[in-house]
Amino acid sequence: RPRVFSGIQPTAGSFHLGNYLGAVRQWVALQETHDAFYSVVDLHSITIAKDPAELRANTRLAAAQLLAAGVDPDRATLFVQSHVAEHTQMSWVVECLTGFGEASRMTQFKDKSAKQGNDGTSVGLFTYPALMVADILLYHTNEVPVGEDQRQHLELTRNIAERFNARYGELFPVPEPHILKETGKIYDLQDPTVKMSKSASTPKGIVELLDEPKAVAKKIKSAVTDTDTVIRYAPEEKPGVSNLLTVYSTLTGAGIPELEEKYAGKGYGALKTDLAEVVTEWVTPFRERTQEYLGDPETLDGILAKGAEKARSVAAETLATVYDKVGFLPAK
Ligand code: TYM
Repeated sequence: RPRVFSGIQPTAGSFHLGNYLGAVRQWVALQETHDAFYSVVDLHSITIAKDPAELRANTRLAAAQLLAAGVDPDRATLFVQSHVAEHTQMSWVVECLTGFGEASRMTQFKDKSAKQGNDGTSVGLFTYPALMVADILLYHTNEVPVGEDQRQHLELTRNIAERFNARYGELFPVPEPHILKETGKIYDLQDPTVKMSKSASTPKGIVELLDEPKAVAKKIKSAVTDTDTVIRYAPEEKPGVSNLLTVYSTLTGAGIPELEEKYAGKGYGALKTDLAEVVTEWVTPFRERTQEYLGDPETLDGILAKGAEKARSVAAETLATVYDKVGFLPAK
């Protein structure tokens, strides 16, 4: 079976609808057909300062949400990144294969560092993509399900895989991004020209999956559309309505043309009311399942321990080969 790897940062509060539709939903689908490794990437998380107690709690919370969303520990290997030391070890080798200019061109780094200021920007934020490359290569990954915002990091991963193979001899498959055209970028409900994001969206613009279902419904109902009334999928002209149609279509399986027909002549109110219900019906059981996992930390930690053990066995073997190819003297 081909390998998939993906990661998600443990954020405060909960994942948002963009994380789910853009990435996690694909993780759940791909575990059926692929040998899947999924990680809560806590090492990535400290590139911007985090409160230690909160980070620990948010790491469990992230794992609980992944399980609640349908990641199945019997099918996929679910683990916490810091539990597998090989990620940081591999990261160093990747850093030494990455050009300074190449890393400087990463748009996420440019955006985030502009916000943090020069002294507020950690070196870790700069080397963050190298750690991501390490995550992916350690598992000989073939495909990486992510949202559109990770495309450039995947491009870097492909380049590094090729560079390693050329310099030290064939080892890594060159991984393909698995980014869906429809859901690779879910937009902010209040400003549908920018992506939904924890750091940039206003509270009203972002659907937090663990919000009160009523609050979620309210946000959908007050989503910004346009002054027209026609319900039509046209991302350029009608970004707000198109974003709502994407969410609706993905959560229900109804085709976009089918939805356009259903709401012909009905106006935005009807669409929003129905979509609010669709989303509420999804988040309500999601929230309950997440609470159940959180209520049983022993089971949760057990799943993560088993995942880490499995991940470690694969990662350790890859790292040993990498060290050998790079020319490190084996310890006796
Ligand atoms: P993170 O934690 O920021 O986001 C997790 C996943 O959610 C996707 N995403 C979106 N998709 C669609 N629409 C949106 N508005 C939206 N916002 C976020 C992201 O693209 C991502 O797939 N660096 C990564 C984590 C990572 C990783 C990896 C991913 C670390 N190592 C190795 C893949 C492979 C990140 O910070 O994602």
